[in-house]
Amino acid sequence: MLPFAKTSEIAPGKCKSAIVEGTRIAVFHTAEGFFAIEDRCTHAEVRLSDGWVEGNCVACPWHGAQFDLRSGEALSGPAILPTRAFGLQVVDDLILVDPSPVA
Ligand code: FES
Repeated sequence: MLPFAKTSEIAPGKCKSAIVEGTRIAVFHTAEGFFAIEDRCTHAEVRLSDGWVEGNCVACPWHGAQFDLRSGEALSGPAILPTRAFGLQVVDDLILVDPSPVA
């Protein structure tokens, strides 16, 4: 697990994007907590951190495909393939991310 951000840096409904060991990862803050996914829509390589959050989903800013922030699963087209989800842990006020994809 690698340090990603302080919890206070990501307000509810917002996200932060950063490159961790060569992969651009976005951490989103929802009512259920913090979730980490690859910051890349699988339809056309757009950053999902520029999209909008509804519940535990993010919608791509380009064509609106929705991804589940907990699993990376593509919930609606035009994206078909999931984006990668990553392990995340909150320790005190620090968000830690495991850059290895969740199996
Ligand atoms: S680029 Fe994301 S849905 Fe098309």
